[in-house]
Amino acid sequence: MEQLKERIEKHIETIATYTSTPGNGTTRLTYSKEDLQTRNYIKEQMKAIGLTVSEDGLGNIFGKLDGSMPDAPSVMIGSHFDSVPNGGAYDGPAGVVAGLEVANLFYQHNVKPSYPLEIVALVEEEGSRFGGGLMGSRGITGQLSEAEFSDSMDKDGISPKEAMQEIGLDPSLPKARDPKTMKAFLELHIEQGPILEEKNIPIGVVESIVGLTQYDITVKGQAGHAGTTPMDRRSDALIAAAKMISKLPDLAITEGNGTVLTTGKLNVYPNGANVIPEKVFFTVDIRSGKEENIQHVIQQLKEYVEDYQGNGIEVDIEEKLYVQPKALSETVRTLLKEQSEHQNISYCSINSGAGHDAMVFSDFTDVGMLFIPSKAGLSHCPEEWSDAADIANAVEILYQTAKKLTKAE
Ligand code: GLV
Ligand code: MN
Ligand code: MN
Repeated sequence: MEQLKERIEKHIETIATYTSTPGNGTTRLTYSKEDLQTRNYIKEQMKAIGLTVSEDGLGNIFGKLDGSMPDAPSVMIGSHFDSVPNGGAYDGPAGVVAGLEVANLFYQHNVKPSYPLEIVALVEEEGSRFGGGLMGSRGITGQLSEAEFSDSMDKDGISPKEAMQEIGLDPSLPKARDPKTMKAFLELHIEQGPILEEKNIPIGVVESIVGLTQYDITVKGQAGHAGTTPMDRRSDALIAAAKMISKLPDLAITEGNGTVLTTGKLNVYPNGANVIPEKVFFTVDIRSGKEENIQHVIQQLKEYVEDYQGNGIEVDIEEKLYVQPKALSETVRTLLKEQSEHQNISYCSINSGAGHDAMVFSDFTDVGMLFIPSKAGLSHCPEEWSDAADIANAVEILYQTAKKLTKAE
């Protein structure tokens, strides 16, 4: 166990060095130099424990241990390895590392599965480079349209295809795979909230994941001189956007039922101190455990934004992501709970307020998810921290669960 914990710490520490913001958290954008460094590390680790490595047309990484049954579907374990800007070292990598260490236990104990075991490292879950998010898992499950893949752009106008080619990946490879090739998907993730730490419980077995949607909103006005344009002759895109943004949280508060709404990204153009803003781009992220709450807030958001049209202001609203709330597989949840009990690791049931690749897979295969405590409930920030001993616990549970699911000897 001590050795397992040390291996986990080393993986997490190594991957954390692949950041474009050293000293200020993890910034690992999809298909960046740091993505390439991380993918090389993950692929090396996979090869060292006897896995056959491949990448698909999105650069998702798969490390496969064949099962004794030819063409049988795989039990997949993994998570994503991109990060938010100035995020932490655990959101994503903890789940990839857990997958690697489950496969390492199969390797060390010479366990022969009947169904294949596949460790999966996914791209662009956060959407920090191309918007939206969950791109890797949506690609695998055929939920990413070719148009979305080719039309998305990062802030510098680079498309996913161009960015992939820049780091030597092949976007012409297949992206989607037949759901019949997937028997189950397991994901370990940090909780990203305070519940497990407050309850002093090391494992959360996830029951359900919130529904979420993301909108891009573009407000267009008229640029002009900050000194010479009278106040009553302006169409200031930033003032219009700021008025909208300051009122939007009220939609979620009035909706209640745990509905949340966030504007986390705001770009002002041309962004000059003495230029009246011509254009503003911002995001709206809405989440709730109940789809009707999300739907109602979306409808109000659209009406609200529409009200700002006119007087030289134009508003465009575009949906970037929509995922319904998801309940995870009862069979896998039961297995995870049984294995926690066998390992004498206490657990509780928990719901996820964050989105995860697991929710995308859950429409296509049996999905189970474990959470471990997050220090002070912090995530998506440099302070994000979880104990490697908790990851090691989760690895033990996932190992036993994977042995059952792969019908290993
Ligand atoms: C991912 O972290 C999300 O919940 O947006
Ligand atoms: Mn995240
Ligand atoms: Mn995550």
